[in-house]
Amino acid sequence: MKVLSLISVTCLIVEAFGASLPKAEINNRKFPESFKWGAATAAYQIEGGWNEDGKGESMWDHFTHTNPSVTDDKLNGDVACDSYHRWREDIQLLKQLGVSVYRFSVAWTRILPTGYLDSYNQAGVDFYVTFVKELLANGITPTATLYHWDLPQVLNEQGGWLNDSTADRFGEYARIVFKNLGPYVKLWSTVNEPKSTCMLGYGDGANAPGIKQIGTAVYQCARVQLLAHATAYHIYHNEFAAEQEGKISLVIDSTYNEPATDSEADVEATDWETQFNLGWYAHPVYVGNWPQIMIDRIGNRSALEGLPKSRLPAWSAEELEFVKGTHDYFGLNMYTALRVSAIDEPEIGDSSYYSDKGTATSFGADWTPSIASWLVVYPFAMRGLLNYVWNNYNPGEIWVTENGVATNATINDQFRVDYLQGYLSNMLDAILDDGVNVAGYTTWSLLDNFEWARGYTQKFGIISVDFTSENLTRTFKDSAKWYQRTVNTYCLVEECVE
Ligand code: BGC
Repeated sequence: MKVLSLISVTCLIVEAFGASLPKAEINNRKFPESFKWGAATAAYQIEGGWNEDGKGESMWDHFTHTNPSVTDDKLNGDVACDSYHRWREDIQLLKQLGVSVYRFSVAWTRILPTGYLDSYNQAGVDFYVTFVKELLANGITPTATLYHWDLPQVLNEQGGWLNDSTADRFGEYARIVFKNLGPYVKLWSTVNEPKSTCMLGYGDGANAPGIKQIGTAVYQCARVQLLAHATAYHIYHNEFAAEQEGKISLVIDSTYNEPATDSEADVEATDWETQFNLGWYAHPVYVGNWPQIMIDRIGNRSALEGLPKSRLPAWSAEELEFVKGTHDYFGLNMYTALRVSAIDEPEIGDSSYYSDKGTATSFGADWTPSIASWLVVYPFAMRGLLNYVWNNYNPGEIWVTENGVATNATINDQFRVDYLQGYLSNMLDAILDDGVNVAGYTTWSLLDNFEWARGYTQKFGIISVDFTSENLTRTFKDSAKWYQRTVNTYCLVEECVE
Protein backbone atom coordinates (compact mmCIF):
# COMPACT_ATOMS: atom_id res chain seq x y z
CA MET A 1 0.00 0.00 0.00
CA LYS A 2 2.80 2.32 0.97
CA VAL A 3 4.51 1.74 -2.35
CA LEU A 4 1.33 2.45 -4.25
CA SER A 5 0.71 5.74 -2.53
CA LEU A 6 4.29 6.80 -3.10
CA ILE A 7 3.83 6.05 -6.78
CA SER A 8 0.67 8.15 -6.92
CA VAL A 9 2.31 11.04 -5.13
CA THR A 10 5.29 11.01 -7.48
CA CYS A 11 2.95 11.07 -10.39
CA LEU A 12 0.87 13.92 -9.08
CA ILE A 13 4.06 15.88 -8.65
CA VAL A 14 5.09 15.09 -12.21
CA GLU A 15 1.76 16.35 -13.49
CA ALA A 16 1.43 19.34 -11.25
CA PHE A 17 4.79 20.74 -12.28
CA GLY A 18 4.37 19.79 -15.90
CA ALA A 19 7.65 17.91 -15.89
CA SER A 20 8.01 15.60 -18.82
CA LEU A 21 9.32 12.11 -18.96
CA PRO A 22 12.89 11.34 -19.90
CA LYS A 23 12.82 11.04 -23.66
CA ALA A 24 14.41 8.32 -25.67
CA GLU A 25 15.20 9.15 -29.25
CA ILE A 26 11.97 9.19 -31.21
CA ASN A 27 11.87 7.37 -34.53
CA ASN A 28 11.73 10.01 -37.27
CA ARG A 29 10.75 7.72 -40.13
CA LYS A 30 7.19 7.50 -41.44
CA PHE A 31 4.69 4.78 -40.67
CA PRO A 32 3.82 2.65 -43.71
CA GLU A 33 1.00 4.10 -45.82
CA SER A 34 -1.12 1.02 -45.20
CA PHE A 35 -1.03 1.58 -41.42
CA LYS A 36 -4.47 2.20 -39.88
CA TRP A 37 -4.88 4.78 -37.12
CA GLY A 38 -7.79 4.66 -34.72
CA ALA A 39 -9.22 5.12 -31.25
CA ALA A 40 -11.04 2.71 -28.94
CA THR A 41 -13.84 2.69 -26.36
CA ALA A 42 -16.19 0.16 -24.75
CA ALA A 43 -19.97 0.21 -24.35
CA TYR A 44 -20.32 0.23 -20.55
CA GLN A 45 -17.53 2.78 -20.18
CA ILE A 46 -19.11 5.41 -22.46
CA GLU A 47 -22.69 4.70 -23.49
CA GLY A 48 -24.90 5.33 -20.45
CA GLY A 49 -28.58 4.80 -21.33
CA TRP A 50 -28.29 1.73 -19.14
CA ASN A 51 -32.01 0.83 -19.18
CA GLU A 52 -33.21 2.59 -22.30
CA ASP A 53 -35.08 1.25 -25.32
CA GLY A 54 -35.36 -2.25 -23.96
CA LYS A 55 -31.79 -2.72 -22.78
CA GLY A 56 -31.42 -5.39 -20.09
CA GLU A 57 -29.33 -5.25 -16.92
CA SER A 58 -25.68 -6.21 -17.32
CA MET A 59 -23.52 -7.56 -14.53
CA TRP A 60 -21.82 -4.16 -14.28
CA ASP A 61 -25.19 -2.41 -13.90
CA HIS A 62 -26.00 -4.87 -11.15
CA PHE A 63 -22.58 -4.74 -9.50
CA THR A 64 -22.48 -0.94 -9.23
CA HIS A 65 -26.16 -0.56 -8.29
CA THR A 66 -26.16 -3.12 -5.48
CA ASN A 67 -22.98 -1.87 -3.85
CA PRO A 68 -21.84 1.59 -4.94
CA SER A 69 -18.60 1.30 -2.97
CA VAL A 70 -17.24 -1.13 -5.56
CA THR A 71 -15.99 1.99 -7.35
CA ASP A 72 -13.58 4.52 -5.82
CA ASP A 73 -15.99 7.43 -6.30
CA LYS A 74 -19.16 5.36 -5.78
CA LEU A 75 -20.22 6.28 -9.30
CA ASN A 76 -21.36 3.99 -12.10
CA GLY A 77 -21.92 3.83 -15.86
CA ASP A 78 -25.62 4.78 -15.84
CA VAL A 79 -24.83 7.94 -17.82
CA ALA A 80 -21.05 7.77 -18.38
CA CYS A 81 -20.21 9.88 -21.48
CA ASP A 82 -23.85 9.54 -22.59
CA SER A 83 -22.61 8.30 -25.94
CA TYR A 84 -25.86 6.39 -26.36
CA HIS A 85 -27.35 9.83 -27.12
CA ARG A 86 -24.25 11.78 -28.15
CA TRP A 87 -22.81 9.31 -30.64
CA ARG A 88 -23.16 11.69 -33.58
CA GLU A 89 -20.96 14.16 -31.73
CA ASP A 90 -18.44 11.39 -31.00
CA ILE A 91 -18.28 10.50 -34.68
CA GLN A 92 -17.52 14.12 -35.48
CA LEU A 93 -14.68 14.04 -32.95
CA LEU A 94 -13.25 10.96 -34.65
CA LYS A 95 -13.51 12.73 -37.97
CA GLN A 96 -11.81 15.81 -36.60
CA LEU A 97 -9.00 13.65 -35.25
CA GLY A 98 -8.53 12.21 -38.72
CA VAL A 99 -8.54 8.55 -37.67
CA SER A 100 -9.74 5.96 -40.14
CA VAL A 101 -10.80 3.30 -37.60
CA TYR A 102 -13.04 3.26 -34.52
CA ARG A 103 -13.01 0.31 -32.14
CA PHE A 104 -16.21 0.19 -30.08
CA SER A 105 -18.03 -2.61 -28.28
CA VAL A 106 -21.59 -3.83 -28.61
CA ALA A 107 -23.58 -4.10 -25.39
CA TRP A 108 -24.89 -7.67 -25.30
CA THR A 109 -27.88 -6.55 -23.19
CA ARG A 110 -29.08 -4.12 -25.87
CA ILE A 111 -29.33 -7.03 -28.33
CA LEU A 112 -30.46 -9.80 -25.96
CA PRO A 113 -31.54 -8.18 -22.67
CA THR A 114 -31.52 -11.46 -20.74
CA GLY A 115 -28.83 -13.17 -22.80
CA TYR A 116 -31.44 -15.59 -24.20
CA LEU A 117 -32.75 -15.52 -27.76
CA ASP A 118 -36.36 -15.01 -26.74
CA SER A 119 -35.50 -11.56 -25.37
CA TYR A 120 -34.37 -10.24 -28.80
CA ASN A 121 -34.50 -6.44 -28.85
CA GLN A 122 -34.85 -4.88 -32.28
CA ALA A 123 -34.22 -1.36 -30.93
CA GLY A 124 -30.76 -2.40 -29.76
CA VAL A 125 -29.90 -3.91 -33.13
CA ASP A 126 -31.18 -0.80 -34.92
CA PHE A 127 -29.06 1.44 -32.71
CA TYR A 128 -25.80 -0.22 -33.73
CA VAL A 129 -26.77 -0.55 -37.41
CA THR A 130 -27.50 3.18 -37.60
CA PHE A 131 -24.28 3.88 -35.74
CA VAL A 132 -21.96 1.87 -37.99
CA LYS A 133 -23.62 3.26 -41.11
CA GLU A 134 -23.00 6.78 -39.85
CA LEU A 135 -19.36 5.93 -39.12
CA LEU A 136 -18.93 4.69 -42.68
CA ALA A 137 -20.69 7.74 -44.07
CA ASN A 138 -18.02 9.78 -42.30
CA GLY A 139 -15.17 7.76 -43.74
CA ILE A 140 -14.45 5.82 -40.54
CA THR A 141 -14.16 2.03 -40.56
CA PRO A 142 -15.96 0.41 -37.62
CA THR A 143 -14.24 -2.45 -35.77
CA ALA A 144 -16.46 -4.10 -33.22
CA THR A 145 -15.81 -5.99 -30.00
CA LEU A 146 -18.57 -8.40 -29.07
CA TYR A 147 -17.78 -8.58 -25.37
CA HIS A 148 -16.14 -5.91 -23.27
CA TRP A 149 -17.09 -7.10 -19.76
CA ASP A 150 -20.84 -6.40 -19.71
CA LEU A 151 -22.39 -9.86 -19.36
CA PRO A 152 -26.21 -10.01 -19.11
CA GLN A 153 -27.03 -10.19 -15.39
CA VAL A 154 -29.47 -13.07 -16.00
CA LEU A 155 -26.59 -15.17 -17.35
CA ASN A 156 -24.40 -14.02 -14.49
CA GLU A 157 -26.97 -15.31 -12.01
CA GLN A 158 -26.81 -18.66 -13.78
CA GLY A 159 -23.06 -18.97 -13.32
CA GLY A 160 -21.85 -16.48 -15.92
CA TRP A 161 -18.33 -17.19 -17.11
CA LEU A 162 -18.11 -20.24 -14.86
CA ASN A 163 -20.91 -21.99 -16.74
CA ASP A 164 -19.97 -23.73 -20.01
CA SER A 165 -23.38 -22.92 -21.50
CA THR A 166 -22.53 -19.20 -21.48
CA ALA A 167 -20.32 -20.00 -24.48
CA ASP A 168 -23.42 -21.18 -26.37
CA ARG A 169 -25.37 -18.07 -25.37
CA PHE A 170 -22.43 -15.98 -26.61
CA GLY A 171 -22.54 -17.76 -29.95
CA GLU A 172 -26.26 -17.02 -30.33
CA TYR A 173 -25.68 -13.36 -29.57
CA ALA A 174 -22.69 -13.19 -31.91
CA ARG A 175 -24.73 -14.68 -34.77
CA ILE A 176 -27.30 -11.87 -34.47
CA VAL A 177 -24.57 -9.25 -34.47
CA PHE A 178 -22.77 -10.78 -37.48
CA LYS A 179 -26.03 -11.01 -39.42
CA ASN A 180 -26.94 -7.37 -38.82
CA LEU A 181 -23.61 -5.57 -38.57
CA GLY A 182 -21.52 -7.91 -40.71
CA PRO A 183 -22.27 -6.08 -43.95
CA TYR A 184 -20.54 -3.04 -42.43
CA VAL A 185 -17.98 -4.38 -39.94
CA LYS A 186 -14.93 -6.19 -41.33
CA LEU A 187 -12.75 -6.50 -38.25
CA TRP A 188 -14.17 -8.25 -35.18
CA SER A 189 -12.90 -8.97 -31.70
CA THR A 190 -14.77 -11.64 -29.80
CA VAL A 191 -13.78 -11.24 -26.14
CA ASN A 192 -11.78 -8.29 -24.85
CA GLU A 193 -9.04 -9.21 -22.38
CA PRO A 194 -10.26 -12.53 -21.02
CA LYS A 195 -7.44 -12.50 -18.47
CA SER A 196 -8.63 -9.25 -16.91
CA THR A 197 -12.24 -10.44 -16.93
CA CYS A 198 -11.26 -13.62 -15.12
CA MET A 199 -8.60 -12.27 -12.76
CA LEU A 200 -10.47 -9.14 -11.72
CA GLY A 201 -14.02 -10.53 -11.84
CA TYR A 202 -13.49 -14.08 -10.53
CA GLY A 203 -10.07 -13.90 -8.84
CA ASP A 204 -9.57 -10.79 -6.74
CA GLY A 205 -13.19 -9.67 -7.06
CA ALA A 206 -12.52 -5.98 -7.75
CA ASN A 207 -14.61 -6.09 -10.94
CA ALA A 208 -18.03 -7.56 -11.63
CA PRO A 209 -19.25 -10.06 -10.61
CA GLY A 210 -16.99 -9.69 -7.54
CA ILE A 211 -16.11 -13.36 -7.03
CA LYS A 212 -12.92 -14.11 -5.08
CA GLN A 213 -11.71 -17.57 -6.05
CA ILE A 214 -8.20 -16.97 -7.20
CA GLY A 215 -7.14 -20.63 -7.29
CA THR A 216 -10.15 -22.16 -9.03
CA ALA A 217 -12.76 -19.92 -10.66
CA VAL A 218 -10.12 -17.99 -12.62
CA TYR A 219 -9.23 -21.16 -14.53
CA GLN A 220 -12.80 -22.21 -15.21
CA CYS A 221 -13.55 -18.65 -16.36
CA ALA A 222 -10.63 -18.85 -18.79
CA ARG A 223 -11.95 -22.08 -20.21
CA VAL A 224 -15.47 -20.73 -20.79
CA GLN A 225 -14.26 -17.48 -22.33
CA LEU A 226 -12.03 -19.38 -24.73
CA LEU A 227 -14.93 -21.66 -25.66
CA ALA A 228 -17.11 -18.59 -26.19
CA HIS A 229 -14.47 -16.98 -28.38
CA ALA A 230 -14.05 -20.15 -30.44
CA THR A 231 -17.82 -20.60 -30.78
CA ALA A 232 -18.18 -17.09 -32.23
CA TYR A 233 -15.13 -17.60 -34.45
CA HIS A 234 -16.58 -20.78 -35.97
CA ILE A 235 -20.03 -19.27 -36.44
CA TYR A 236 -18.46 -16.36 -38.28
CA HIS A 237 -16.33 -18.56 -40.50
CA ASN A 238 -19.02 -21.19 -41.16
CA GLU A 239 -21.90 -18.84 -41.80
CA PHE A 240 -20.71 -15.33 -42.66
CA ALA A 241 -17.06 -14.94 -43.63
CA ALA A 242 -17.39 -16.10 -47.24
CA GLU A 243 -19.89 -13.37 -47.99
CA GLN A 244 -18.85 -10.68 -45.52
CA GLU A 245 -15.09 -11.12 -45.92
CA GLY A 246 -14.10 -9.92 -42.47
CA LYS A 247 -11.52 -11.03 -39.92
CA ILE A 248 -12.13 -12.13 -36.35
CA SER A 249 -9.92 -12.81 -33.32
CA LEU A 250 -9.57 -12.59 -29.58
CA VAL A 251 -8.06 -9.51 -27.89
CA ILE A 252 -5.44 -10.44 -25.31
CA ASP A 253 -3.82 -8.06 -22.82
CA SER A 254 -0.25 -8.54 -21.78
CA THR A 255 2.61 -6.89 -19.99
CA TYR A 256 6.11 -7.07 -21.43
CA ASN A 257 8.20 -9.09 -19.00
CA GLU A 258 11.91 -8.70 -18.37
CA PRO A 259 14.06 -10.83 -16.05
CA ALA A 260 15.12 -8.87 -12.97
CA THR A 261 18.68 -10.20 -13.41
CA ASP A 262 20.28 -12.33 -16.08
CA SER A 263 20.43 -15.33 -13.71
CA GLU A 264 19.04 -18.55 -15.16
CA ALA A 265 16.40 -18.67 -12.45
CA ASP A 266 15.08 -15.19 -13.24
CA VAL A 267 15.09 -15.89 -16.96
CA GLU A 268 13.08 -19.05 -16.36
CA ALA A 269 10.71 -17.20 -14.01
CA THR A 270 10.14 -14.61 -16.73
CA ASP A 271 9.04 -17.31 -19.10
CA TRP A 272 6.67 -18.71 -16.47
CA GLU A 273 5.24 -15.24 -15.90
CA THR A 274 4.62 -14.80 -19.60
CA GLN A 275 3.06 -18.24 -19.97
CA PHE A 276 0.75 -17.66 -17.02
CA ASN A 277 -0.43 -14.35 -18.50
CA LEU A 278 -0.14 -14.05 -22.25
CA GLY A 279 0.29 -17.78 -22.89
CA TRP A 280 -2.74 -18.66 -20.75
CA TYR A 281 -4.96 -17.34 -23.58
CA ALA A 282 -2.67 -17.18 -26.60
CA HIS A 283 -1.33 -20.73 -26.38
CA PRO A 284 -4.73 -22.49 -26.66
CA VAL A 285 -5.66 -20.33 -29.66
CA TYR A 286 -2.35 -19.98 -31.55
CA VAL A 287 -0.55 -23.20 -30.57
CA GLY A 288 -3.07 -25.51 -28.93
CA ASN A 289 -3.78 -26.39 -25.25
CA TRP A 290 -2.70 -24.50 -22.11
CA PRO A 291 1.03 -23.73 -21.85
CA GLN A 292 2.85 -26.83 -20.58
CA ILE A 293 4.20 -25.01 -17.54
CA MET A 294 0.64 -24.22 -16.42
CA ILE A 295 -0.44 -27.82 -16.92
CA ASP A 296 2.58 -29.04 -14.93
CA ARG A 297 2.63 -26.55 -12.08
CA ILE A 298 -1.11 -26.39 -11.41
CA GLY A 299 -1.40 -30.15 -11.83
CA ASN A 300 1.46 -30.85 -9.39
CA ARG A 301 0.31 -28.36 -6.81
CA SER A 302 -3.27 -29.64 -7.02
CA ALA A 303 -2.02 -33.19 -6.44
CA LEU A 304 0.04 -32.08 -3.43
CA GLU A 305 -3.06 -30.32 -2.10
CA GLY A 306 -4.76 -33.73 -2.18
CA LEU A 307 -7.22 -32.79 -4.91
CA PRO A 308 -8.53 -35.55 -7.18
CA LYS A 309 -7.72 -33.54 -10.32
CA SER A 310 -6.01 -30.36 -11.43
CA ARG A 311 -7.62 -27.01 -10.64
CA LEU A 312 -6.81 -26.17 -14.27
CA PRO A 313 -9.65 -27.77 -16.25
CA ALA A 314 -8.43 -30.23 -18.88
CA TRP A 315 -9.70 -29.87 -22.46
CA SER A 316 -11.24 -32.81 -24.25
CA ALA A 317 -9.56 -33.71 -27.56
CA GLU A 318 -12.56 -32.23 -29.36
CA GLU A 319 -12.38 -28.96 -27.41
CA LEU A 320 -8.66 -28.62 -28.06
CA GLU A 321 -9.29 -28.77 -31.80
CA PHE A 322 -12.26 -26.45 -31.50
CA VAL A 323 -10.21 -23.69 -29.86
CA LYS A 324 -6.92 -24.14 -31.71
CA GLY A 325 -6.41 -21.93 -34.75
CA THR A 326 -9.35 -19.61 -34.08
CA HIS A 327 -7.60 -16.43 -35.17
CA ASP A 328 -7.33 -14.22 -38.23
CA TYR A 329 -4.98 -11.70 -36.59
CA PHE A 330 -3.58 -11.03 -33.09
CA GLY A 331 -5.48 -8.40 -31.06
CA LEU A 332 -3.05 -7.07 -28.46
CA ASN A 333 -3.76 -4.66 -25.61
CA MET A 334 -0.49 -3.39 -24.22
CA TYR A 335 0.14 -0.76 -21.59
CA THR A 336 2.97 -1.67 -19.28
CA ALA A 337 5.87 -3.88 -18.23
CA LEU A 338 7.13 -6.02 -15.33
CA ARG A 339 10.49 -7.20 -13.98
CA VAL A 340 10.33 -10.83 -12.93
CA SER A 341 12.28 -12.75 -10.28
CA ALA A 342 12.37 -16.38 -9.24
CA ILE A 343 11.09 -17.21 -5.73
CA ASP A 344 11.17 -20.25 -3.44
CA GLU A 345 8.33 -22.64 -4.14
CA PRO A 346 5.26 -21.25 -2.32
CA GLU A 347 3.97 -23.49 0.44
CA ILE A 348 1.24 -25.95 -0.39
CA GLY A 349 -2.08 -25.06 1.17
CA ASP A 350 -2.53 -21.71 -0.41
CA SER A 351 -4.37 -22.59 -3.60
CA SER A 352 -3.87 -19.44 -5.59
CA TYR A 353 -3.03 -18.46 -9.14
CA TYR A 354 -0.09 -16.50 -7.70
CA SER A 355 1.39 -19.55 -5.96
CA ASP A 356 0.71 -21.60 -9.06
CA LYS A 357 2.65 -19.04 -11.07
CA GLY A 358 5.52 -19.09 -8.56
CA THR A 359 7.20 -15.82 -9.56
CA ALA A 360 7.62 -12.33 -8.08
CA THR A 361 7.19 -9.14 -10.06
CA SER A 362 8.29 -5.55 -9.61
CA PHE A 363 8.84 -2.43 -11.68
CA GLY A 364 12.21 -1.31 -13.01
CA ALA A 365 13.70 1.53 -10.99
CA ASP A 366 14.06 3.64 -14.13
CA TRP A 367 10.45 3.17 -15.26
CA THR A 368 8.08 6.08 -14.75
CA PRO A 369 4.98 5.46 -12.61
CA SER A 370 1.52 6.66 -13.60
CA ILE A 371 -1.49 7.28 -11.37
CA ALA A 372 -2.71 3.74 -12.13
CA SER A 373 -0.79 1.49 -9.73
CA TRP A 374 -0.39 -1.23 -12.38
CA LEU A 375 0.78 1.01 -15.19
CA VAL A 376 4.36 2.17 -15.58
CA VAL A 377 5.77 3.99 -18.55
CA TYR A 378 8.44 1.95 -20.31
CA PRO A 379 8.22 2.49 -24.07
CA PHE A 380 10.61 -0.34 -24.97
CA ALA A 381 7.92 -2.69 -23.66
CA MET A 382 6.02 -2.12 -26.89
CA ARG A 383 8.82 -3.26 -29.13
CA GLY A 384 9.69 -6.16 -26.85
CA LEU A 385 6.15 -7.46 -26.62
CA LEU A 386 5.41 -7.07 -30.32
CA ASN A 387 8.51 -9.08 -31.12
CA TYR A 388 7.55 -11.72 -28.56
CA VAL A 389 4.06 -12.14 -30.01
CA TRP A 390 5.34 -12.12 -33.59
CA ASN A 391 8.04 -14.72 -32.97
CA ASN A 392 6.11 -17.04 -30.67
CA TYR A 393 2.59 -17.06 -32.12
CA ASN A 394 3.24 -16.39 -35.78
CA PRO A 395 -0.04 -14.48 -36.17
CA GLY A 396 0.50 -13.01 -39.65
CA GLU A 397 -0.92 -9.66 -38.56
CA ILE A 398 -1.11 -7.81 -35.25
CA TRP A 399 -3.50 -5.04 -34.28
CA VAL A 400 -2.62 -3.07 -31.15
CA THR A 401 -6.21 -2.73 -30.08
CA GLU A 402 -5.48 -0.77 -26.87
CA ASN A 403 -2.62 1.28 -25.48
CA GLY A 404 -2.66 4.41 -23.37
CA VAL A 405 -2.08 5.89 -19.93
CA ALA A 406 -4.09 7.35 -17.03
CA THR A 407 -3.56 10.91 -15.88
CA ASN A 408 -5.48 13.46 -13.86
CA ALA A 409 -4.73 16.19 -16.34
CA THR A 410 -7.71 17.79 -18.02
CA ILE A 411 -6.26 19.46 -21.09
CA ASN A 412 -2.49 19.84 -20.77
CA ASP A 413 -1.49 16.21 -20.73
CA GLN A 414 2.13 16.29 -21.88
CA PHE A 415 2.62 13.11 -19.84
CA ARG A 416 0.31 11.27 -22.27
CA VAL A 417 1.90 12.88 -25.34
CA ASP A 418 5.29 11.56 -24.18
CA TYR A 419 3.82 8.15 -23.45
CA LEU A 420 2.17 7.81 -26.86
CA GLN A 421 5.17 9.17 -28.70
CA GLY A 422 7.54 6.77 -26.94
CA TYR A 423 5.38 3.67 -27.34
CA LEU A 424 4.54 4.42 -30.96
CA SER A 425 8.19 5.07 -31.70
CA ASN A 426 9.01 1.62 -30.35
CA MET A 427 6.17 0.15 -32.38
CA LEU A 428 7.63 1.76 -35.48
CA ASP A 429 11.03 0.23 -34.67
CA ALA A 430 9.32 -3.17 -34.50
CA ILE A 431 7.60 -2.57 -37.83
CA LEU A 432 10.52 -1.11 -39.79
CA ASP A 433 13.51 -2.76 -38.17
CA ASP A 434 12.21 -6.08 -36.90
CA GLY A 435 9.70 -6.84 -39.65
CA VAL A 436 6.69 -7.20 -37.33
CA ASN A 437 3.45 -6.71 -39.27
CA VAL A 438 1.39 -4.30 -37.15
CA ALA A 439 -1.60 -3.43 -39.31
CA GLY A 440 -3.19 -0.82 -37.08
CA TYR A 441 -3.47 0.88 -33.70
CA THR A 442 -6.53 2.00 -31.77
CA THR A 443 -5.44 4.17 -28.86
CA TRP A 444 -7.13 3.86 -25.46
CA SER A 445 -9.16 5.90 -25.24
CA LEU A 446 -11.08 8.31 -27.40
CA LEU A 447 -12.80 9.82 -24.35
CA ASP A 448 -12.32 10.08 -20.61
CA ASN A 449 -14.73 7.46 -19.36
CA PHE A 450 -15.86 5.09 -16.61
CA GLU A 451 -12.64 3.36 -15.57
CA TRP A 452 -14.25 0.30 -13.93
CA ALA A 453 -13.45 0.04 -10.19
CA ARG A 454 -11.65 3.39 -10.38
CA GLY A 455 -14.90 5.11 -11.42
CA TYR A 456 -14.12 8.46 -13.01
CA THR A 457 -10.97 9.07 -10.94
CA GLN A 458 -8.53 7.95 -13.63
CA LYS A 459 -8.74 9.47 -17.07
CA PHE A 460 -7.50 7.60 -20.11
CA GLY A 461 -9.04 9.81 -22.79
CA ILE A 462 -7.18 11.89 -25.36
CA ILE A 463 -10.40 13.94 -25.36
CA SER A 464 -11.60 15.23 -22.02
CA VAL A 465 -15.22 14.94 -20.93
CA ASP A 466 -16.45 17.46 -18.39
CA PHE A 467 -18.66 15.20 -16.30
CA THR A 468 -19.94 18.20 -14.33
CA SER A 469 -21.30 20.02 -17.38
CA GLU A 470 -24.83 19.55 -18.65
CA ASN A 471 -23.67 18.63 -22.14
CA LEU A 472 -20.79 16.46 -20.98
CA THR A 473 -18.59 18.80 -22.96
CA ARG A 474 -15.85 17.12 -24.96
CA THR A 475 -12.56 19.00 -25.47
CA PHE A 476 -9.39 17.98 -27.30
CA LYS A 477 -6.48 17.55 -24.91
CA ASP A 478 -2.92 18.29 -26.01
CA SER A 479 -2.54 14.57 -26.68
CA ALA A 480 -5.52 14.61 -29.08
CA LYS A 481 -3.92 17.49 -30.98
CA TRP A 482 -0.63 15.59 -31.07
CA TYR A 483 -2.39 12.42 -32.22
CA GLN A 484 -4.28 14.38 -34.87
CA ARG A 485 -1.01 15.61 -36.35
CA THR A 486 0.49 12.13 -36.16
CA VAL A 487 -2.38 10.32 -37.87
CA ASN A 488 -2.42 12.90 -40.62
CA THR A 489 1.34 12.86 -41.26
CA TYR A 490 2.19 9.25 -40.28
CA CYS A 491 5.08 10.86 -38.48
CA LEU A 492 5.82 11.04 -34.72
CA VAL A 493 7.98 14.15 -34.81
CA GLU A 494 7.56 17.54 -36.48
CA GLU A 495 9.31 16.47 -39.60
CA CYS A 496 10.07 12.96 -40.79
CA VAL A 497 12.76 11.77 -43.12
CA GLU A 498 11.15 10.45 -46.28
C1 BGC B 1 -9.52 -2.40 -20.66
C2 BGC B 1 -10.21 -1.06 -20.67
C3 BGC B 1 -9.64 -0.20 -19.55
C4 BGC B 1 -8.17 0.02 -19.81
C5 BGC B 1 -7.47 0.87 -18.77
C6 BGC B 1 -8.03 -2.30 -20.47
O1 BGC B 1 -7.62 -3.31 -19.64
O2 BGC B 1 -9.84 -3.12 -21.83
O3 BGC B 1 -11.58 -1.27 -20.54
O4 BGC B 1 -10.31 1.01 -19.41
O5 BGC B 1 -7.52 -1.22 -19.82
O6 BGC B 1 -7.49 0.27 -17.53
